Amino acid sequence: MKIRKFKLDDAKELNVIISDCLLNVNSKDYSKKVISNMLSHYSISKIITSSKEKNIYVLEDLNKIIGTICISENQIYSLYVSPFSFKKGLGSKLVFFAEEEIKKNFSSVIIYSSLTAINFYSKLGYKKIKNHNSDFFGSSIKMEKLF
Ligand SMILES: CC(C)(COP(=O)(O)OP(=O)(O)OC[C@H]1O[C@@H](n2cnc3c(N)ncnc32)[C@H](O)[C@@H]1OP(=O)(O)O)[C@@H](O)C(=O)NCCC(=O)NCCS
Repeated sequence: MKIRKFKLDDAKELNVIISDCLLNVNSKDYSKKVISNMLSHYSISKIITSSKEKNIYVLEDLNKIIGTICISENQIYSLYVSPFSFKKGLGSKLVFFAEEEIKKNFSSVIIYSSLTAINFYSKLGYKKIKNHNSDFFGSSIKMEKLF
């Protein structure tokens, strides 16, 4: 199992994992409209565009992608693990990787946590700063961890 940089050929696999999470997991916490907005935000073409601006990483096991995380400056974005592989420590592994990268240049990490992942980030030492609301992405919680 390894974490490596995103390649353009990965976009389709990432779209499948992210869509699976949105439709089957995040949909318990968000309206149909927000889920539909998120699905369009993570289309294959938008993942490719985003990879030119942000550092996207994938977690690969036996040539199959099972998770992803994105870093820009001291912020973590777009953490998704394949639902088949939840609760096996993979999400934590991706966050720890991102923290090590961010630590090289910053003294804290910021995350806008989905409502679905608040307890996950709390377990990893993130503290709630404030609620955030967006018409397009719905509610999230700004959380921070100081190194
Ligand atoms: C959030 C997510 C990445 C966690 O991935 P994961 O691989 O299951 O996480 P881990 O196995 O590393 O879990 C670490 C700890 O958090 C707990 N945990 C994981 N997800 C949780 C959740 N949704 N609610 C409460 N606790 C959670 C685990 O039980 C584990 O606890 P333990 O150490 O006491 O056993 C995954 O559930 C996911 O992709 N969710 C949908 C997408 C999403 O909302 N991403 C966040 C965007 S900001």
